[in-house]
Amino acid sequence: MQDQLKKRLLDAASDPYRDSGAFNYRWARGKLAGDPIFAALIDEAVFPDNARVLDLGCGRGLLAAWLLAAERLAARGLWSASTVPPKGLRFRGVELMAREADCGNRALQPLHGDRVQLQGGDMRAAEMGDVDAVAILDVLHYIPHVEQERLLDRIRAALGGGGVFVTRVGDAGSGWRFAFSQFVDRCISFAQGHRIAPTWCRPLADWVSVLESRGFSVQTRAMSAGTPFANVMVVARVGK
Ligand SMILES: C[S@@+](CC[C@H](N)C(=O)[O-])C[C@H]1O[C@@H](n2cnc3c(N)ncnc32)[C@H](O)[C@@H]1O
Repeated sequence: MQDQLKKRLLDAASDPYRDSGAFNYRWARGKLAGDPIFAALIDEAVFPDNARVLDLGCGRGLLAAWLLAAERLAARGLWSASTVPPKGLRFRGVELMAREADCGNRALQPLHGDRVQLQGGDMRAAEMGDVDAVAILDVLHYIPHVEQERLLDRIRAALGGGGVFVTRVGDAGSGWRFAFSQFVDRCISFAQGHRIAPTWCRPLADWVSVLESRGFSVQTRAMSAGTPFANVMVVARVGK
């Protein structure tokens, strides 16, 4: 994505958070600017047009903010990259910290109405409902392995043919990079008011195997370019 388009998209995606206070705005802008996964989700055409997306552990709804801003730019003829962003996405989000979900609703609903509905709750108990795509970005490791597997079973059962599950995980097999990622994750969680809790990580090969054993076809892409982290985007698709 060229710099000019990236800047335009960053402005469009973060501006809705301006009225949520300086911290929320800076958080949204900083995360969207520095995290390579948001651009990759468009580059890799992860979400099909008109997908009903369930974002588990959605935080302030940055995924919705980014993809809906990209759609708005494309609709205005301001999109210059070769991969066109998806149109017509609708987002439901579930987030443990209800105040973050509320912040996302306040920022995004004035622009997008009921295309964005974020609520407080635990993803382990989330209603899957009618869904074409499920995203869990940097959240799965907060729940124990057996609960991860139970949740993945429910996601697989909810997704029909052509459905997609996208997650980002840390690769526990990647040595010091993983240790550093864990350290930063804990610092950020603490700064955000979360308690420091244990985490349940896996080497990348285990994540892939857990997903393939549930019938997903899995692709992975390192998501650490230019950073010292061990993050990997995992796109798991259900055959049509
Ligand atoms: C690192 S943040 C990622 C937020 C968001 N996915 C993003 O990419 O901007 C992890 C989020 O997961 C949430 N979380 C952790 N455990 C959760 C659970 N069991 N159910 C729902 N959300 C959870 C945390 O409150 C936090 O907002």
